[in-house]
Amino acid sequence: MIHKTIADFPKEFLWGAASAAYQVEGAWNEDGKGPSNWDVYVRFPGTTFKGTNGDVAVDHYHRYKEDVALMAQMGLKAYRFSIAWTRIFPKGRGEINEAGLRFYDDLINELLKNQIEPIITLYHWDLPQELQDAYGGWESREIIEDFHNYSVALFKRYGDRVKYWITLNEQNVFIMHGYLNAIHPPKVADLKRMYQANHIASLANAKVIASFRNDVPEGKIGPSFAYGPAYAHTDKPEDVLASENAEEFNNHWWMDVYAWGEYPKVIWNYLTREGLAPSLEEGDLEVLKKGKPDFMGVNYYRTTTYERNLLDGVSFGKMNTTGKKGTTPDTGVPGLFKTIKNSNLEATDWDWEIDPMGLRIALRRITSRYRLPILISENGLGAFDVLEENDVVNDEYRIAFIRRHLEECQQAITDGVDLLGYCVWSYTDLLSWLNGYQKRYGFVYINRDEDSEKDMRRIKKNSYFWYQKVIETNGKQL
Ligand code: NOJ
Repeated sequence: MIHKTIADFPKEFLWGAASAAYQVEGAWNEDGKGPSNWDVYVRFPGTTFKGTNGDVAVDHYHRYKEDVALMAQMGLKAYRFSIAWTRIFPKGRGEINEAGLRFYDDLINELLKNQIEPIITLYHWDLPQELQDAYGGWESREIIEDFHNYSVALFKRYGDRVKYWITLNEQNVFIMHGYLNAIHPPKVADLKRMYQANHIASLANAKVIASFRNDVPEGKIGPSFAYGPAYAHTDKPEDVLASENAEEFNNHWWMDVYAWGEYPKVIWNYLTREGLAPSLEEGDLEVLKKGKPDFMGVNYYRTTTYERNLLDGVSFGKMNTTGKKGTTPDTGVPGLFKTIKNSNLEATDWDWEIDPMGLRIALRRITSRYRLPILISENGLGAFDVLEENDVVNDEYRIAFIRRHLEECQQAITDGVDLLGYCVWSYTDLLSWLNGYQKRYGFVYINRDEDSEKDMRRIKKNSYFWYQKVIETNGKQL
């Protein structure tokens, strides 16, 4: 669709940026915080790039005021951050930790004082280790109650001040990396267990959404889904079918459950035949149906292109966590699909295709299928930034990346997408999980690397000043 004129960004558009507790806070064992699965996992040799961990991260726990002051100077309208479950309930359940609650009180109040809308993520992958040890974390239905209690405690404490809430961050990613690719905790490679853990996570997600309606009646809540739209490699019907398989298998499997409380039929049949479908208990589908979100949170980084994969074809493979371009193998599910490089698109050093128009396609597909408003809860570019003399970081490539994605947002708004906001990943540089500190995403450079914490000085990159102007003009000047 080529529009003759383009709509403006809505007046109340949430110009945001995002982070996650484990990636920025540090203070991993302070003020009563208990250990999370990531605190434990990173200590196994060989799991992360150069053995990095989030013990100190970028020290946001102690420097949050300075970070918020920089946000305020930028004119940021919204800041998405996650709460570390283990600060609130050090053991995941039982006794609540007042010091942990107070930290987020202070952060929220600081944001509000500066007219920045807080967006809370309830769960950004840092599970209390105690719950992993006690009953296997997401593999036990016990977690539904514990996650519910934790979430309700947050609704009650912050619901008077916080309107926007995100339940699970990238359920598809933490489940697949944790139970299939075995690169995130609990480092399992077992499809049957993966589908079961995922079903339990969906129930937990739906149950907290249902309670949210009572506790924060004026609020808005939704999950953040890592949506990578599927493309067909060629116009051969077998490639088109492969891309449909991938869209259903990788995307609808989660989003249909969020929006409708239903699993997609074709994939359900496939998994049942393979003996992999999750076991449902009585009442599960009702729980899922009661968890309809107010918006679909979308973390968009890339599209993926697919072609036919024969029954003896490739399956899942290793990820590029080093930034050495071209080291990602093609992966797939035998009999369903396999990935193939899209020759029309450039890629980042971590082999993620750069596809701004793919974002418009993502927004359009969600709008047409689910008719929900959308919050872009993450979008951004991971790159090797260079700190030049006089504290300059010339990240023109990041500006170009975000500008093109925002142009496509505007096209999507003109198409009729109800877009609530756009959170850039990330606000400051941070720990990129398995990728260390060298994969930088922030508007604010943090002077540290894998080898040394240095002084962790905050330095505004060129993209900081550019985004400041974008916000000031409500997107008129991109
Ligand atoms: C998605 C995750 O939510 C975030 O934690 C991660 O760092 C970014 N993607 C970049 O990989």
